[in-house]
Amino acid sequence: MNAHYLAFDGITKQFGPIDVVANTDLSIEQGSLVIFLGPSGCGKTTLMRMVGGLDHPTKGAIRLEGQVVRTPDRRRGMVFQSYSSFPWLTVEENIAFGMRYRSDMTGAEKTERCRHYLKLVGLEDFATAYPSRVSGGMRQRVAIARTLAAGSDVLLMDEPFGALDALTRERLQVQLREIQIREGKTVIFVTHDVEEAVFLADRIVMFSRRPASVIADIDVNAVLGKQRPLEIRETPKFFDLRNQVLHLIRNETGDPL
Ligand SMILES: Nc1ncnc2c1ncn2[C@@H]1O[C@H](COP(=O)(O)OP(=O)(O)O)[C@@H](O)[C@H]1O
Ligand SMILES: [Mg+2]
Repeated sequence: MNAHYLAFDGITKQFGPIDVVANTDLSIEQGSLVIFLGPSGCGKTTLMRMVGGLDHPTKGAIRLEGQVVRTPDRRRGMVFQSYSSFPWLTVEENIAFGMRYRSDMTGAEKTERCRHYLKLVGLEDFATAYPSRVSGGMRQRVAIARTLAAGSDVLLMDEPFGALDALTRERLQVQLREIQIREGKTVIFVTHDVEEAVFLADRIVMFSRRPASVIADIDVNAVLGKQRPLEIRETPKFFDLRNQVLHLIRNETGDPL
């Protein structure tokens, strides 16, 4: 494990006169799932866009394995709240789309890989369906599978389950946690749902109001361990941590998220 796998070095971001991120340092370990939690408008999406290479810091740099991030790259895949599948492609074709420029793989390898990720997200029976014919939860699974199939080592997930009903959301949380452990991916996941944060996280990084700076950094694994069966949500240690996070938010922001 490399502690400086993904590093934010003195990141400041301004849009015109507005400070959105203020001198933020952060180091993310390879293979960890880190939750970004903070009040709405504090700069979380801006931070994610900078990791994705879609936006650039005004000062400082983001480095992945020592290389400064400047442009989007398939190593850093993004999954957003709005469903980002192509309606004219089937589920399978949507997943394959992420591999279209990979000249290092044969067609047969791509097909094989596509099948693997279809199965991993439990969509093998929907390979030939069009996105409009599957549920919102399934469309988000398509987006996750496409990002994994593309070979992304880092998944950037900006409120990806925000538009889903509670039960679908819970199911996807369990699946994401399992996939992330199995595949060893590094995930940055933005949410303003405290329960989602505590359930999913290896670590929770909590941001202040805009301009975003880190106000708390919580090692969730130290309390809950790495494996997260659904039932863990009903345990006292889960409640305690959830309450602790809620208090921190109330104290630091004066507001619920
Ligand atoms: N392209 C932009 N131009 C100007 N202001 C922006 C731009 N993108 C975001 N902002 C502003 O930056 C702040 C942080 O936005 P954002 O990163 O989307 O917050 P969050 O995702 O935490 O809700 C907001 O005040 C927003 O209006
Ligand atoms: Mg946002």
